[in-house]
Amino acid sequence: MNTITKLSKKNTLPTPPTSERSRFDNLPRHLAIIMDGNGRWAKERNLSRIEGHRAGAESVRVIVRSCRKIGIPVLTLYAFSKENWQRPSREVQALWRLLSRYLKSELGEMMENSIRLNAIGDIRELPRTVYRLLANTMEQTAANREMILNLALSYSGRSEIVKAAQKLADTCVKRELKPSEIDEAVFSTYLYTADMPDPDLLIRTSGERRISNFLLWQMAYTELYVSPVYWPDFREPELMEALDDYQRRERRFGKTGDQKGKEA
Ligand code: FPP
Repeated sequence: MNTITKLSKKNTLPTPPTSERSRFDNLPRHLAIIMDGNGRWAKERNLSRIEGHRAGAESVRVIVRSCRKIGIPVLTLYAFSKENWQRPSREVQALWRLLSRYLKSELGEMMENSIRLNAIGDIRELPRTVYRLLANTMEQTAANREMILNLALSYSGRSEIVKAAQKLADTCVKRELKPSEIDEAVFSTYLYTADMPDPDLLIRTSGERRISNFLLWQMAYTELYVSPVYWPDFREPELMEALDDYQRRERRFGKTGDQKGKEA
């Protein structure tokens, strides 16, 4: 049974007609998204920034559901960067409230659709109740196998790399590893994403063209897609457009077009 038919009726959209099936081939194994533009979306509507984040949380629900339905195995959402701690505390608190609400309301659906929730970042820095809820949700969904939903929370790419270097240094000091044994594959196992493929595609919404300290190591060969749409307006049609664009790309990984797919 394929991923689409395995989903419960409640959360499925109709199975696509055969002519559209190709849309489900060559999908990213790991899709990363920088969800940007909540504030501007709200400002254009004379709403508070918090209203923008609330609408953004609805896009999170829709996009997670769509990714699960079409069979994307890993989805990483940049929900809160380390730099975001500098925002007004009212806004920061509202973001934690939205996250808590999301975790509570979506647990049933995660279980029903075999979605494992994972967090990357310094999650010990989160308010204690949010941390506990997160840890609890991660524990309850740990055996789910169809999809990983990674939430980047209090995340910084540079800090992740520094932490990995510290852990590696510690391992060498304990003589469990020789410095000469450290290569890219070993280094990767010290990152939050150790058991996941690198992102094939990064989507950033709201037209901004920055990486913003997100998955710096992992994005060495990631395809970038910038959508002009603000995150609260980014829904399934916009996701499909981004995936269509990705599917048309030729990924060379530094080789020439002729070498692609052959042993160099
Ligand atoms: C960036 O928009 C968005 C964020 C920093 C927060 C993202 C949070 C959500 C989408 C909602 C809650 C998340 C979950 C997982 C339920 P911005 O505020 O920087 O927008 P702006 O650049 O237009 O000001």
